Formats: sequence, structure tokens, C-alpha cells
Amino acid sequence: MLEKFERYPLTFGPTHIEKLDRLSAHLGGKVDLYAKREDCNSGLAFGGNKLRKLEYIIPDAIASNADTLVSIGGVQSNHTRMVAAVAAKIGMKCRLVQESWVPHEDAVYDRVGNILLSRIMGADVQMVDEGFDIGIRESWEQAIADVKARGGKPYPIPAGASVHKYGGLGYVGFAEEVRAQEKELGLAFDYIVVCTVTGSTHAGMVVGFAKDGRERKVIGIDASGTPTQTKAQVLEIVRNTAALVELDKELNADDVVLIEDYAYPAYGVPSQETKEAIRLCARLEGMITDPVYEGKSMQGMIDLVNKGYFPAGSKVLYAHLGGAPAINGYAYTFRNG
Ligand SMILES: Cc1ncc(COP(=O)(O)O)c(C=O)c1O
Repeated sequence: MLEKFERYPLTFGPTHIEKLDRLSAHLGGKVDLYAKREDCNSGLAFGGNKLRKLEYIIPDAIASNADTLVSIGGVQSNHTRMVAAVAAKIGMKCRLVQESWVPHEDAVYDRVGNILLSRIMGADVQMVDEGFDIGIRESWEQAIADVKARGGKPYPIPAGASVHKYGGLGYVGFAEEVRAQEKELGLAFDYIVVCTVTGSTHAGMVVGFAKDGRERKVIGIDASGTPTQTKAQVLEIVRNTAALVELDKELNADDVVLIEDYAYPAYGVPSQETKEAIRLCARLEGMITDPVYEGKSMQGMIDLVNKGYFPAGSKVLYAHLGGAPAINGYAYTFRNG
């Protein structure tokens, strides 16, 4: 589906699919759980889902003759860390706007984890005291204007690399990769579980899996806490991406399955149940999920298995999208394990 698009390789290649035997057994053994390890997809600053998206965006950045990638996220944004890593790798400058999206307990929250890595990689990090919003932000527009005013040539990358014309392509590629791996493994996944916030990971999967009729088997777990806005953004990216890849199928709001039940109490703040899911997955599988994103989708998947949402015998693929560096900002939460 992606042959006509240029791709700048930033990842190692197809990501590993791993069976979660102990977690599956712990939850009753009726459903087989697997994880696709997007969190281990690259040597660039611990990797993660943004690199798949950026592989289709960077050729456009290079072609534009830009000299500075300009992006935005929360203080512990994984996305801005990935943009900083890519800028370093391709020899561009990097300007990052880090907004106060998360109320936090740790005194060192703005010194550790993702933001620490971005600083080490040489990004120009600007702290802005604005709350959570996945939309286009004034602070980001100002940063773009500021780079221009100083004589630079900015290349704007929105939050999560989502509302960019090529933002959905990377995860179309994920679906194609899963199809090839299913052939090798001799199985087919009945459901794909994905954490959804800015929307292009989920949207790309919906378009990619629509090719074989599985668009509604992509189960988005909202971690934004603003699901109406997130769902609308997913649908917009679905439509844009479907047109780009010339999908021969009309997709609509019913094709975006977004479960809203696990984002509480707020974006970036883990509930008791999220913390328990993080511990359970770590203790049974040695697989680290974070309190902002993957811990919430892990909690959602565990709860859905417990509720019987997936029929017995289902094979469920959990997309592990990365995000572990943020856990350093939650040392107080996990002070006793
Ligand atoms: C680790 C992790 N998981 C999930 C997501 C959600 O992906 P998206 O923003 O494409 O919905 C993000 C980024 O926002 C992330 O960094």
C-alpha cells in the first residue's frame, strides 16, 4: 500500500512479535496474548512508535531544505524525544516546545526521562506553561515563527507527528508487516490493541487493516481523557491516509473503535488500576509499560480479557508503542515497586 511513498529508514526493520504466555495464563488462558515490540524498534534514543511515522515524514523535511525540526508535546513527551533523536541523526537542529500537560508529584519530573534525553541530544528545549491539548497550539506556531525570525528554516512536526499529511502512513506499514508475519507464524490475529492519544498510530492501523477487513478489530484504548476530540482526529487522519494510499473502501466513524474507560483520572496520571497493570505485566513478562500510555492500554486489554470482550480462542496483538523513559518521572508512584 506504500510503494509510491519515500521512506527514510530510522528503524531496525520488522519488529518482533512475542507471545505473552504467563500473562495469558494468569488471565485464565482462554485468550492468547501477543505483543509487537515497537518499543524495541530502533537504536535511536530507545525507539518507539514515532519513528515509524517519521520514516515517511523525514523525506519531505529533507526535500524542503529545512534546517530545524520544530515540534511539541508535554514535558515527558516521547514524541519530542524521538524528533530530537532524528534531528541529531540527520544533522538538523531541533526546537521543542514542552507544555505542562501533566500534574506531577516528582520534583525532578522536568529533569529526567524523555526531556533529559532530548537535552543530551542537543535539542533547544522550551518550557511553556500550558495545559493538555492534542490540537494545533499557539506556542508551537510561535516557535516556528521564532526559528524563521532568527534566519532558520523550520520544518513543523505537530504533536505526535499526527496531523501531518504523511502522519498516518507509518502505521499502514505496521499492518502490512503484521500480515507478512502472520504468514510466517501460521496464525492470524483477531484483535489489535493500541493506545490512542494524538491518533495517527490508530488511524494508520485502521487504514492498513481495512485492506483485509479488520478495521474494526483495531481496538483503540483512549489515554487522552479527551476522547471526543481524539476520535474526531483519528477519523480525520483515517480519511486523509485512506485517500493518500487510494484505499478502495470508504471508512467512517463506526470504523474507529475507541474505548474511553481507562484514561481516568487524567492524561498522564495513572489510576490505581493502571499502576497494577504496569506491575503485573512487569512481574509476569519483564515487559515495561509506562503510566501515560502503554500502562493504560495494558490495563484496558487486561480488563477486556477479564470481562470476556474477546471470545475464547481469540489471538490478541498488543502493540507496545514504547514510552518507558517517562517512568523516570514517576519515581514517587513506584517508590515501593
Ligand atoms: C508510548 C506511546 N504510546 C502511545 C502513544 C499514542 O499514539 P498516538 O499519539 O499516535 O495516538 C504515544 C504518543 O502519543 C506514545 O508515546
